[in-house]
Formats: sequence, structure tokens, C-alpha cells
Amino acid sequence: MYVCNCNGIREREVRAAIAAGASRPAEIFKACDSAAQCARCVCDMRRLLSEEREVLRYAAE
Ligand code: FES
Repeated sequence: MYVCNCNGIREREVRAAIAAGASRPAEIFKACDSAAQCARCVCDMRRLLSEEREVLRYAAE
């Protein structure tokens, strides 16, 4: 599933960027060698950041 249609960034690429240390949408774009254009995907990126943080929080317990 595509998260960012402008840059063709898929959900799995966003999750990989987060796993590699991206903590903000700007860092996700950078990890995917792209840049925000319309920025409609930023809310979805923030949601995925939040989900991944929850997963890491549970894994750390
Ligand atoms: S959908 Fe991501 S920049 Fe437009």
C-alpha cells in the first residue's frame, strides 16, 4: 500500500525508515531519497510513527 503517492513511498518503506531511526516525517522522506510535495501523506506517516513507537514500547517491557 502506498503512503505517499507523490513519491511512490510504500508503507513497508516507511516502517523500514522508522526502524532505521527516522523519528519525523522529514526523516522518512530523507531515508526514502525524496521530499514532501503535497504533504498529504504526513498524517499517515505520523500515524505509522506512533504505531511503531507503541510496538517498540511493548517490546521493551
Ligand atoms: S502524498 Fe506524499 S508528498 Fe504528496
